[in-house]
Amino acid sequence: VKKILQKILVPYEYPVVFTRSVFAPRNDDLLAAMDRLNEGRRHRVSVYVDAGAARSRRGLLRDIGTWFSARRKRLELAGPPRIVPGGEAVKSERRLLSLTRDLAAQKLCRHSFVVIVGGGAVLDAVGLAASLVHRGLRVVRVPTTALGQCDSGVGVKTAVNLAGAKNLIGTFAPPFAVINDEQFLETLPDREWSGAIAEAFKVAIIKSAPFFNELCRSAVRLKARDLRVLARVVRRCAELHLDHIRTGGDPFELGRARPLDFGHWAAHKLEMMSGFRISHGEAVAAGVALDSIYASLRGWITKPECGRVLRGLAESGCVLWYPELARRDRGGKLEILRGLEDFREHLGGELCVTYPRGIGRRHEVHEVRATLVAKAILRLKRTALSDSWKRGLRACRAVFVVDRDLRARSNVV
Ligand SMILES: NC(=O)c1ccc[n+]([C@@H]2O[C@H](COP(=O)([O-])OP(=O)(O)OC[C@H]3O[C@@H](n4cnc5c(N)ncnc54)[C@H](O)[C@@H]3O)[C@@H](O)[C@H]2O)c1
Ligand SMILES: [Zn+2]
Repeated sequence: VKKILQKILVPYEYPVVFTRSVFAPRNDDLLAAMDRLNEGRRHRVSVYVDAGAARSRRGLLRDIGTWFSARRKRLELAGPPRIVPGGEAVKSERRLLSLTRDLAAQKLCRHSFVVIVGGGAVLDAVGLAASLVHRGLRVVRVPTTALGQCDSGVGVKTAVNLAGAKNLIGTFAPPFAVINDEQFLETLPDREWSGAIAEAFKVAIIKSAPFFNELCRSAVRLKARDLRVLARVVRRCAELHLDHIRTGGDPFELGRARPLDFGHWAAHKLEMMSGFRISHGEAVAAGVALDSIYASLRGWITKPECGRVLRGLAESGCVLWYPELARRDRGGKLEILRGLEDFREHLGGELCVTYPRGIGRRHEVHEVRATLVAKAILRLKRTALSDSWKRGLRACRAVFVVDRDLRARSNVV
């Protein structure tokens, strides 16, 4: 025999449960998720909690403790819940190593559970560590940010940053289950709130015109922090992401196309350029705006369609302009364009960027014209900073406390 063709098909299955107050005494959704294989044994569980979520919801740690003690016949805590810092700071090499060591010290086996309660960054970092220990523990994600619930938390990837590069090391590691608890959305700061909206626009623009229309209609209520509207948007956005991963034919991104990364080549670069002062969701709003203008310059969407995208994002509270977008290096080159190079490198040589083609449809292109990107940046700046454009936006009556620094460089009205 000269060649044996080894072919392995591995099915993955994980429930994404929408609930409220996951650690309330009578809520058994988390237990049901962990016990979904009916293994009839007591599960060993380690819990990690995002410090930001713990800070903003008083009693969270106590509730978790009480919830587990009431189910001690079925679940055994490997130790007290661990608090980890939230946000991009946790996605470092050093943290990854300490998380891995911490997991390893808890005598977990491949069938033990790691429950991660936190934002996208904590899910990414602890999720990566958990996917490495014993080559993968069972992870149940409880995303506590809107972006986590509608995007990062329901997907199959984990990552941390390395050597100045965003998400450079990571794994494909589908979770055992995801529990989306609406109650966590109540305490989100404004900027985290609008981050999810940017991802919702992203997926709507390339996949669903009806959802895009719904987002535009709901923009003012989203900005006014109408929780019911946000919960619906989060759910629909999660559905579209799940649908894409399930039916898109490339869940582990072996091919070049990355439709869900629409607007992200600029977003990732913008995050890095700002030293992560600009959050992922904030950067995505600007990236989606920029790539929509580029798409309109290329004739892939009409000018009015592009106008609706910009208006929809701005009316729902997203900031569209950051001075970093126009920053040039010593040679006079726009620094943001380096994001395209990073993207090309990540894909392995050939560039493949997703753009809308009409609202709700998409296509992949292999060439992005630098001069047109520069033109799009100029147009975005003019629009976002123009007083007459801002006056034309529908504003909600609610009064916002926007941090001064943010207001200074924003188009928040
Ligand atoms: N793995 C993936 O597929 C994927 C996809 C998209 C984004 N991401 C990653 O997700 C990260 C962004 O995640 P994010 O937008 O969820 O923000 P985040 O995780 O950076 O959290 C932002 C802040 O909110 C705090 N926080 C968390 N929950 C809270 C709550 N309920 N109330 C108040 N504060 C709370 C955190 O402590 C943190 O300070 C980025 O690192 C991005 O790269 C990963
Ligand atoms: Zn994203």
